[in-house]
Amino acid sequence: MNEAGQHSKIAIGCDHNGLEIKNLLRDHLIERGCEVVDFGVHDNEPVDYPEIAGSVAEAVQKGTFNRAVLVCGTGAGMAIAANKVPGVRAVCVHDPYTAERARASNDAQIMTLGSQIVGSSLAIQLIDIWLASEFQGGRSAPKVAKICELERKYWNVASVSGCTDRETKSALAATLQPERLLTPWLGTSWKMNKTRTEAREYAQLLIEAMEASPLPATVFILPPFTALDSVCEITRGAALKVGAQNMHWADDGPYTGEVSPLMIKESGAELVELGHFERRQEFGETDSSVNRKVRSALEHGLRPLICVGETDVQQAYSVAEEVVACQVKIALHDVGTDRIPDILIAYEPGWAIGEKGTEANPVHVNAMHLRIREVIGYQYGQSIAEKVHILYGGSVTSTNAAAFACQPEVDGLFVGRAAWEVGSFVDIIRTFCATRSELPASPLAGNLIGVA
Ligand code: PGA
Repeated sequence: MNEAGQHSKIAIGCDHNGLEIKNLLRDHLIERGCEVVDFGVHDNEPVDYPEIAGSVAEAVQKGTFNRAVLVCGTGAGMAIAANKVPGVRAVCVHDPYTAERARASNDAQIMTLGSQIVGSSLAIQLIDIWLASEFQGGRSAPKVAKICELERKYWNVASVSGCTDRETKSALAATLQPERLLTPWLGTSWKMNKTRTEAREYAQLLIEAMEASPLPATVFILPPFTALDSVCEITRGAALKVGAQNMHWADDGPYTGEVSPLMIKESGAELVELGHFERRQEFGETDSSVNRKVRSALEHGLRPLICVGETDVQQAYSVAEEVVACQVKIALHDVGTDRIPDILIAYEPGWAIGEKGTEANPVHVNAMHLRIREVIGYQYGQSIAEKVHILYGGSVTSTNAAAFACQPEVDGLFVGRAAWEVGSFVDIIRTFCATRSELPASPLAGNLIGVA
């Protein structure tokens, strides 16, 4: 066996058929100095093996254990069930060679055994070999990465989570879109707040905070039109992007009270927010006007931040996915494939925005982001969809930022009230980035479930 300390905490479980072997292995491991957590069963009462396999595999996925053993009649059902949990690799083992290769080639965290196939002494031999073997990395790393990639494709979980090996992780990082996962976008719209003086002061303080301790994120602020020029002047040369909160699609014309893309561009702004919920509700913004604005922004070299989100009524009728899919499709109508990576999307359900907003469940948010990416993927292909940053907005605070950061489809945050004071915006950014950077160590997918 390996140094006892290395795998000192092992989960073990069985169905009624595996009881005897499981108890034998548990006692053997305890004797070898391991801390064993026995997930049962503890008697011969018949039990459906997926129940035990599920609890053990989920504990592995969350990082509570990095090794586990499951026993049933053949070992097959346990392996199949455990492998349904994202990030988990379970191998059914009947012989010493497979026990060794399951670790060395496949980086399996779970070994399953068949009590009707292996006897007591072989079971002990197999567990000793399996625990003594380590993942070899090297040529096996990209293969395990591809397992994770498959998982990601079908289960839509950032499978970086399931990789315990550094080489595998980097091979996987290369196959996933590292940009979306590794550099989140975090921004705030000040809505109709802040005079020019206040805006300049805020921008200055934010730049200082960012320079004092650089962040692995793209940070942006959206001041009101009146402060756009002066904020851009202050942020010139700084790692802080500035954008407008709306624009007209036309270059000029008889549109009283409107601001054109040329005017925004001249101010030095790089981004433009389009289709915010408040504009849709209060000022009659429609999906088709958002689409005209998106195309115009792209033509003028402005990065559109397209806001989508359902109302509380639409949510109550369970049509959020359909509504948001429709908003995304129309917003992107006639936008060329090559322009898609230049677009940002913010999912902001109306019921979560503002003082009266209700905090969104991060798992719901993740599912909506997934749906948005599917819509883009259907139209432009999955690899293009993977390049789009989809941000979440609506009652984001420094307290809930970490929970959103744990969601693999959340590529950043778009914050209102909680970011109108520099210090708390910086807190939100730092919390999000710190949580993201810790995730590979504590599985991303594990957190996904943990938050639910
Ligand atoms: P809130 O606003 O964070 O104040 O809820 C979010 C938004 O409208 O973008």
